[in-house]
Amino acid sequence: MTRSYPNTRLRRTRTHGWSRAMHRETVLTPADLIWPLFITDGQGVEEPVASLPGVSRWSVEGIAKRAREAVDLGIPCIALFPNTQPGLRSDKGDEALNPDNLMCRAIRAVRDACGNDVGVLTDVALDPYTSHGQDGLVDEAGYVVNDDTVAVLVDQAINQAEAGADIIAPSDMMDGRVKAIRMALEMGGYANVQIMAYSAKYASAFYGPFRDAVGSGGLLQGDKKTYQMDPANGDEALAEVALDIAEGADSVMVKPGLAYLDIVRRVKERFEVPVFAYMVSGEYALIEAGAAAGAGDRDALLMESLTGFKRAGASGVLTYHAPVAARLLNG
Ligand code: PBG
Repeated sequence: MTRSYPNTRLRRTRTHGWSRAMHRETVLTPADLIWPLFITDGQGVEEPVASLPGVSRWSVEGIAKRAREAVDLGIPCIALFPNTQPGLRSDKGDEALNPDNLMCRAIRAVRDACGNDVGVLTDVALDPYTSHGQDGLVDEAGYVVNDDTVAVLVDQAINQAEAGADIIAPSDMMDGRVKAIRMALEMGGYANVQIMAYSAKYASAFYGPFRDAVGSGGLLQGDKKTYQMDPANGDEALAEVALDIAEGADSVMVKPGLAYLDIVRRVKERFEVPVFAYMVSGEYALIEAGAAAGAGDRDALLMESLTGFKRAGASGVLTYHAPVAARLLNG
């Protein structure tokens, strides 16, 4: 088919709003959003996160209220991240295995408040629990060891499943962890608990505000480049995704978001598996800072970014802007 001007004028269908609506290829709804929430200790506590203006840590009952808010806004799922008290952090991150840790208390509170009206996704990695801020166990040389870490991550995942988590999301980037967690879930009676693997997770400069929010930023020595991916690599992301699917992931994730939309698209085209994208803390902060500096309208910048994720092929987006976006979408 050859189309040419003036028979074809692509501006024709753009003339009026009704026509633009009719020809729109990508539709964003609140059901495309996953809302990450930070948990803190105490009762009735709200702690604003300085590097994420508009985002707070909430104590457990506040998390349950946010979960109810998600249901009311049409957001299907929340993702939980604990800010563990400094005194409970240790070399080996044992607090991750405590059935009464912040994470497990929050899962139970959400379940009590919302039943199965909202999905609860829980992060599996040790960084909110370790005194050194790394996602796994470190040897004398400071190297994050793989297989011993996987054994702890399995226990962490089971601890979360026991508390009622719906989706286990390993964000640690250890080799073989999806298979180990899947087998443990099967054997532990949690066959229907999902795994959303952070498959293509890059060693990114965009995670800074998150590390403030969970309190691991000041503790972290060095970087995470021996386990998180090199931002220069794309083929390797497909290899990570292929392995995680073979090991039992129900869905996969690409992270961060906007700088990696080519990866989202390649995963979507190559595999028959839902692919989610994480618009991470630094991306949230950039939009807020840009809008505050007069670089553009916050809501417009946000909606254009989220639409880009869907156009790239994402089944959904994890974003701290989820409640803002859902309110805009709900009018
Ligand atoms: C922990 C984890 C991180 C994020 C999600 N899970 C930080 C990291 O790997 O250092 C980042 C999320 C964000 O920046 O919003 N493993």
